Amino acid sequence: MKSTFDGKIAVVTGGTSGIGYAVTEEMLKRGATVYAIGSRNESIEKARKSLAAYKNSRFLVADVTVADDVKRMIDTAVAGSGRLDYLFNNAGIGMTHPTRYLTLDMWKKIIDLNLWGVIYGIHFALPVMLEQGSGHIVNTSSIAGIIAPPAQAAYCATKYAVTGMTEALRYEFAADNIAFTTVCPANVATAIFAGTEIPKDAIPADEAARIILDGVEKKEALIIFPEYAKMLYERLSADPALKDRFMLEYARRRKAGWERGVPYLGVPDDLL
Ligand SMILES: NC(=O)c1ccc[n+]([C@@H]2O[C@H](COP(=O)([O-])OP(=O)(O)OC[C@H]3O[C@@H](n4cnc5c(N)ncnc54)[C@H](OP(=O)(O)O)[C@@H]3O)[C@@H](O)[C@H]2O)c1
Repeated sequence: MKSTFDGKIAVVTGGTSGIGYAVTEEMLKRGATVYAIGSRNESIEKARKSLAAYKNSRFLVADVTVADDVKRMIDTAVAGSGRLDYLFNNAGIGMTHPTRYLTLDMWKKIIDLNLWGVIYGIHFALPVMLEQGSGHIVNTSSIAGIIAPPAQAAYCATKYAVTGMTEALRYEFAADNIAFTTVCPANVATAIFAGTEIPKDAIPADEAARIILDGVEKKEALIIFPEYAKMLYERLSADPALKDRFMLEYARRRKAGWERGVPYLGVPDDLL
């Protein structure tokens, strides 16, 4: 059976590593032409080599924190392929750090990449999609864009913004045939955990990519995965008292971990 993505044109920011790389490869397998974006030549060259078997793979260096780079990225895809069917605003960094020790530079860095990078992508892709009368923008938020873990205030500030913005856009542009999806992963084994231990419950990036594309195909509003993250979100949303107990214990464990120099990477699911 022909895939929904067959013959389609996609741009994937952060397409050189982790979830974005896996989405790029899965889209290529399903017949799309994909422009994989990274900010560094080295990561682009590495991805180019490992995806060389796919003749519809394209690569571009662009820093999504720079508006002109994002404009060039969209213009290049449209000039090369005549249209843009999918934009995955996926590039992003993590940050788990007690808020009292965050510098303003740390706040600025994460907001520039995780939020402004997404805003620029939407700003330059929307006119193209409106003009062609269709399109789908998929923004990577996080489980921390719907549940707010302690010591992740800066990360949550960006990811809640992405979740809210995407939901508002989904309804604003429904009548224009432009779809919007928010992706909320919990732990996926990628370079985002460089320097710390990969959590034991992390799923592989290629599994994440298949879950994401199955949801995108159905034009789902919110793709929350893996299953335990969805269950956690539903349990905490349904029971405010449980959520309070859970979050207070989470904060206590994270603080204790920071003080001992052994970061607490789990969640207090023994309270559920
Ligand atoms: N992994 C998880 O457990 C997890 C959980 C929830 C949400 N997420 C979200 O998923 C997204 C992808 O994360 P990941 O885990 O796949 O991370 P990753 O493996 O570290 O990949 C990050 C990607 O972003 C690119 N990038 C970084 N800065 C950029 C910039 N300024 N301009 C353009 N590209 C840039 C990197 O390429 P260069 O090195 O070339 O710049 C790389 O391709 C992020 O938004 C993250 O917040 C991840």
